[in-house]
Amino acid sequence: MEIIKEIEKMQQISREEAAAKKSIGFVPTMGYLHEGHLKLVEKAVDENDITVVSVFVNPTQFGPEEDYDEYPRDLERDLSLLRERKVDYVFYPAVEDVYPEGYATYVQVEKGTDVLCGRSRPNHFKGVTTIVSKLFNMVIPHRAYFGKKDGQQLLIIRQMVRDLNMDIEIVACPTVREEGGLAMSSRNKYLSSKEREAALVINRTLEKACSWIEEGERDGWEIKKAMEREIKAEPLATIDYASIVSRETLQELGVIKGPIMIAIAAYIGSTRLIDNVWLEVT
Ligand code: PAJ
Repeated sequence: MEIIKEIEKMQQISREEAAAKKSIGFVPTMGYLHEGHLKLVEKAVDENDITVVSVFVNPTQFGPEEDYDEYPRDLERDLSLLRERKVDYVFYPAVEDVYPEGYATYVQVEKGTDVLCGRSRPNHFKGVTTIVSKLFNMVIPHRAYFGKKDGQQLLIIRQMVRDLNMDIEIVACPTVREEGGLAMSSRNKYLSSKEREAALVINRTLEKACSWIEEGERDGWEIKKAMEREIKAEPLATIDYASIVSRETLQELGVIKGPIMIAIAAYIGSTRLIDNVWLEVT
């Protein structure tokens, strides 16, 4: 496994691998890897000749009051996990190379970015689509792997790739959960054991919403209200949103039908957690 810091070197390697007819799979991450990231990595290794994993905590997707400085980092541990999975290249660029002085260009998807997480994190998705476009230009992959855990992010990236004619296949991977159902996240590290217990309310509420829909409920607003009640009943949880949206438009649905995403964001103590499930409703 090779660790690449220089952007030009990464591009050169990718061009050489592609010229040698190797397919390149790419997993962008912000590091502090857990089983959720590693499932994406394993799938990429399985499906491609060459796998590149990037580790880059992207400052432009964090708001001024958010946890950019405190975001957990442990490169040595990440590298040993990636080595075990037979990754070929780890791309680990420096912030000052990615955003040099005078940097002035951003990529913005103009639909679906001001709802759900976009409402409380106004420039978040602009930062995400900018860094993902930049990483695509640096790594030049054939396929890129994203988790459904960040469902809105995945749908926005798909929209960007379609709209900008990027010749990259976006592969969606299932959410990996801890025993008990809590979606794995680098931010789970912030939770005390009491909070970890309380955080289970998120997945439990999503499961309930699924079963109400399976039983025939189609009124989106009723389910939304019921989800809000469930979360409010947990004293350590503060709800940000509980929404049922179309996966095509990311807009909330009064009548539940088609490919949908049920999504929740809540603070458990001071840690903001998100989770979602995808359903096809007839
Ligand atoms: P990060 O939070 O490190 O996540 C990297 C990838 O791992 C994302 O595609 C995310 O959806 C996926 N992932 C995280 N937890 C998961 C879980 N429990 N199950 C399945 N997949 C999971 O998402 C980002 O970084 C950044 O926004 C990034 C795309 C790298 C741009 O900076």
